Amino acid sequence: MNIGFDSFVETKVPENELIISRTDLRGNITYANETFANISGYEVNELLGKPHNIVRHPNMPKSIFKDIWKSLGMDKKWEGAIKNLRKDGGYYWVWAEISAVKKDGKVVEYKSMRSPLKDEQKIFYERLYAKKMLTEENRVFISSYISQEALEVLKRYSKKHNLSLQDSLEALLLK
Ligand SMILES: Cc1cc2nc3c(=O)[nH]c(=O)nc-3n(C[C@H](O)[C@H](O)[C@H](O)COP(=O)(O)O)c2cc1C
Repeated sequence: MNIGFDSFVETKVPENELIISRTDLRGNITYANETFANISGYEVNELLGKPHNIVRHPNMPKSIFKDIWKSLGMDKKWEGAIKNLRKDGGYYWVWAEISAVKKDGKVVEYKSMRSPLKDEQKIFYERLYAKKMLTEENRVFISSYISQEALEVLKRYSKKHNLSLQDSLEALLLK
């Protein structure tokens, strides 16, 4: 994960375009439309064949994805708010509807259709998910300033140990 200015830049999701992706049964992307690629900051080609967690944002609670896969396993549609990570470290929020694609009654793929969220909904879900992270994963959301110098130390540490910046910060604090 990239910490820095880019991480806090929100990309607005277009109102009148369909945002679509499909995956195989293990969650690898088999189709992505231009709009989905655009808001994620990728080319369509870069997304094809990749696991859908390529756009997973670190602020998303694990239980949401568990819930998605549980619903799909029970042949049910899932819908809810998702904050996604862009290639440049920025983010965007969507309302996602994830469901099975069937052929002759058999599930062959999964598909997701997304639409924009209102600003009030984004604030609501940001808070709800922060609460979930705390109660379910014992992880606290902090937002603060550190010196450039400290950030460089953090970056070097994360590179050396192949850790995200978040995990490096935690490792250094607990040292
Ligand atoms: C059709 C479909 C669409 C999905 N869309 C997203 C998405 O937009 N963002 C996301 O983080 N995960 C999405 N997922 C869930 C991912 O497959 C994955 O479970 C999630 O990113 C968490 O990663 P992990 O399972 O490796 O922990 C989608 C799954 C399916 C089947």
